[in-house]
Amino acid sequence: MARAQTEDQAWLRYASGTAHSAIPASVLALGTSVLEQSAVQELQRGITGMTEAKAASGGETVVGTLDEVRAAFPGLAIPAHIAAHGFWLKRTLWHGKPLVIVAGSNPHGALFGAFDLLRRIATGADLSHLDAIETPAMSIRWVDEWDNASGTVERGYDGRSIFFEGGKVRDDLSEATAYARLLASVGINGCNVNNVNNAAPFLEPDMIKGLARIADAMRPWGVRLAISVDIASPQKIGGLKTFDPADPAVKAWWAAKVNEIYQQIPDFAGFTVKADSEGQPGPASYGRSPADAANVLANALAPHGGVVLYRAFVYNNHLDYNDMKADRARAAYDIFHPLDGQFAPNVIVQIKYGPIDFQAEEPVSPLFAGLHKTNEAMELQITQEYLGQQRHLVYLAPLWKEKLDFDLRAENRSTPVKEIIEGKSFNQPLGGMIGVSCVGRDNWLGAPMAMANLYAFGRLAWNPNLSAEQIAAEWTKQTISTDPQVVATVDKMLMQSWPAYIDYTGFLGTQTLTDITGSHYGPNIEASERNGWGQWHRDDTKGIGMDRTVATGTGFVGQYPPEVAKMYESLATTPDKFQLFFHHVPWTYKLHTGKTVIQYVYDSHYKGAEEAARLGDEWSTLKGKIDPQLYEDERARLEYQAGHAIVWRDAIVQYFLKESGIPDALGRAGHYPGRMEAEDARLTGYKIVDITPWEDASGGKAVSCYTNSAQKTCTAEWTYSGKPGRFDIAVQYFDLQGGVAHFTLAINGTEIVSWAADAKLPSRRPNGDNSTRFTARGPDGRGFELKPGDVLRVEGAPVAGDPAALDYIEVDSVKESAPGAR
Ligand code: GCU
Repeated sequence: MARAQTEDQAWLRYASGTAHSAIPASVLALGTSVLEQSAVQELQRGITGMTEAKAASGGETVVGTLDEVRAAFPGLAIPAHIAAHGFWLKRTLWHGKPLVIVAGSNPHGALFGAFDLLRRIATGADLSHLDAIETPAMSIRWVDEWDNASGTVERGYDGRSIFFEGGKVRDDLSEATAYARLLASVGINGCNVNNVNNAAPFLEPDMIKGLARIADAMRPWGVRLAISVDIASPQKIGGLKTFDPADPAVKAWWAAKVNEIYQQIPDFAGFTVKADSEGQPGPASYGRSPADAANVLANALAPHGGVVLYRAFVYNNHLDYNDMKADRARAAYDIFHPLDGQFAPNVIVQIKYGPIDFQAEEPVSPLFAGLHKTNEAMELQITQEYLGQQRHLVYLAPLWKEKLDFDLRAENRSTPVKEIIEGKSFNQPLGGMIGVSCVGRDNWLGAPMAMANLYAFGRLAWNPNLSAEQIAAEWTKQTISTDPQVVATVDKMLMQSWPAYIDYTGFLGTQTLTDITGSHYGPNIEASERNGWGQWHRDDTKGIGMDRTVATGTGFVGQYPPEVAKMYESLATTPDKFQLFFHHVPWTYKLHTGKTVIQYVYDSHYKGAEEAARLGDEWSTLKGKIDPQLYEDERARLEYQAGHAIVWRDAIVQYFLKESGIPDALGRAGHYPGRMEAEDARLTGYKIVDITPWEDASGGKAVSCYTNSAQKTCTAEWTYSGKPGRFDIAVQYFDLQGGVAHFTLAINGTEIVSWAADAKLPSRRPNGDNSTRFTARGPDGRGFELKPGDVLRVEGAPVAGDPAALDYIEVDSVKESAPGAR
């Protein structure tokens, strides 16, 4: 695993050699605000870092507000006005010497301007005629952390909370400051620090004192603190008998609580609310609406300048699967659309990008077009809950761009989602983007390349018109290298990664076919069906898909404005990628490409697994050109990802082959050349077990080593009967969370490799969460010589909690493509 990653090893590396002689290294602040001091400090650090300590001589770089710049440089042509938090960057000559001006509309703007200037330097922009004005597209640019007071992080994949431990705010908040610096560098201005679930303890007096320390830690970087609150707090911690938002005592309680917060945190940003959702209490208990609840909080916050982010993620998770009209996707619109116009001006309704829940692919939520008199924000996940949990490389900017750019055509005019949440489409004063980030203490997001997602979120919230490619290039240049070949390769990989993930997981709008009641990680197709959670895809032997049409289905399609509804109502005009989200079709239904649905399932999954493997091949071309530690860390991750993509491919392909009974026209499904199943091996000690769900193991079965104390290991042995040649040998085993088992692989009695099953993967039972591929590639990656009659043997040494379970081995001709990498 990689070293702990500081913010300097993220995109703020300021690697030497990218310096710009156009920028004077002597930096001074024109004002005294803490944000200007931070800006100056950052510019000094950045410019010095990038100039290999040799300052460009002469001239000055100055940081200030527009007013300060006007006073300091009389006679200089200065923009009359720049919108809040915006800035002006200018290079000019002043008394014959270079002068670079970083002028903010306010100190916040100056800080953002400083980071923007540094980004321009680091990415090699031509600054000789620098003259740029930038303003943020949206006012709310927040990250949400789902940290619990105990120190765990819900949906976090990188260790414990940077804010909390043991029920309290941590003593050491240096990571909180470092995080705020990272956030500020991409224009983020708010951080909601606690989980949307179980938030009541965060309003206890001692906790508020601690929260004030977090606010202090982030303040030098202009990141304002917000917290999630539990709507039942007046009852849970306030001693009231009720939390009915209409009750005067409840209103008074919230007003007093908010005053208590602002006494200690004068720039407190506001509250996030999850209510009447997934077990969280809410106003529905008293027959009140989300607007009733939101407005009580909003009225308490308004005098102090705070806002309420009320989440539209409200739905019934006890839906009746047998009711063909029941549809979770409808919930947000059904509940919130009738309330349009009832929310206080400082309430923003926070809407997940799709109508379900952060899936790898789902259409845009129709609610964005359903609120014209209400502030709106789009919620997305930076943490990859349903998208490989940071173990898979998945660059999310293309997904977010697809949602931001989608034109909902409200009132039959152009209303792309980005313009709705900017407040432009319906003339709303507030709006924005919220990224659920869930960073942790060890390494921020847990994977160096996943940091591109945090970076991209901030950049898109600042300017949703940036392209995913442009953001990728910026990030790579700042984080990895400015070498054009490296930039081109990494950016290509980033751009390929989301389509690849979709290809090897779900298909045609089925959403992520994962274990939705458990890990949300590996394949588990039936987990979405026959329960109340409503993430159904309704497959059977005849066909698949949710009929959400108005004519014959749940009516969800009717929530979209007419032009979009018309498109989704008809199979003929629904884009292939959403066919099964909107329609139920037979397996033999022909897509726009002419391919049947079932053949698409086979083809896309084989293609997806190949695409995943290609990511590793592309990375291998960077050997020797980038930081060796990063190279090796990512190489191992991509190797794992390629293996797990095969687990996904095989699970989905064999499941739907069995279900549909329709063979793969290309003959791949159900046939695995070179594969030898563990259950067919000569076993010593190993016992054959059924895997649940069955599709997570090749043929549904594996072998597991439950030893008695006398016998410490188990073995599986096969006699090779294929063609002679040189081969890679892959071993597919289950790496359980409970302990570290060991494996060895031997040919004709000679051990060739051994390894430990020590990855950190979900689940204590063998299944697709932890099915892992180890590929032995032989000395110098040239594979192993095999001829018929050779004996291959895997020996598993179990430990308590990990029975060294084994699925199969597979021999594969040596790949020639990427010699150096192996
Ligand atoms: C997802 C996620 C939960 C989270 C919820 C939410 O369902 O799995 O952990 O609480 O979203 O957004 O509130």
